[in-house]
Amino acid sequence: MGKDVIVACDFSTAEQTYAFLDRFTDRKPFVKIGMELFYAEGPDIVRNIKKRGHKIFLDLKLHDIPNTVKKAMTVLSRLDVDITNLHAAGGIDMMRYAIEGLTRPDGTRPLLIAVTQLTSIDQRRMEGELLIKEPLAEVVMQYAENAKNAGLDGVVCSALEAGKVHGRCGDSFLTVTPGVRFSEGAVGDQQRVTTPEKAKEIGSDYIVVGRPITSAEDPVAAYMRCVQDFIDE
Ligand code: C5P
Repeated sequence: MGKDVIVACDFSTAEQTYAFLDRFTDRKPFVKIGMELFYAEGPDIVRNIKKRGHKIFLDLKLHDIPNTVKKAMTVLSRLDVDITNLHAAGGIDMMRYAIEGLTRPDGTRPLLIAVTQLTSIDQRRMEGELLIKEPLAEVVMQYAENAKNAGLDGVVCSALEAGKVHGRCGDSFLTVTPGVRFSEGAVGDQQRVTTPEKAKEIGSDYIVVGRPITSAEDPVAAYMRCVQDFIDE
């Protein structure tokens, strides 16, 4: 898989999601399904979107003891998604077990990436609530290295960190980056944002774009703009 734009389908029902995806007739976007839609609609939402011909990033961010995560990953491996994820904070053993669970009997598996620190956690919260005293950027790099050492394929991080992650973990270690906005668009609740062009320049492998596409007057045009700016020369 190469560079791509992943559309965050943060809808609460299958109907809304299918109505949105029906607009895309030429190029079928890579779709991110998160907790809200998955918990509302169950595994069928994944099967149905897959049947429609989309690649899927199943964003459930698993975090539990290694054995429980392994068993949950085995269940997810049967859904035939392209990417799924977990929290690096669960530790290296948990990540190793996750890969074991995700690997199918024929040796294939979806790509597995780790969330480093959530973008809702800042230095103050990390120190005051979690009692982690290191600089946030260093914690992100350490978690990325842990994920690489456990055999994972990459991390979710800010596009602004993508270059540094590649520097530490190698160019083939994937960086999947949310927090993307058009230069003239609303930032909303995202703290550190980049444009698709800037994410490309820094070296993100996949950008995850939600509201700039889902809330656009013309979502297909907004998606194609991301594709042109991020992928096309
Ligand atoms: O609408 P917006 O473009 O902000 O959507 C970004 C998507 O990426 C959302 O689904 C959000 O949950 C997800 N995400 C994020 N920051 C992270 C991890 C995931 O924004 N650190």
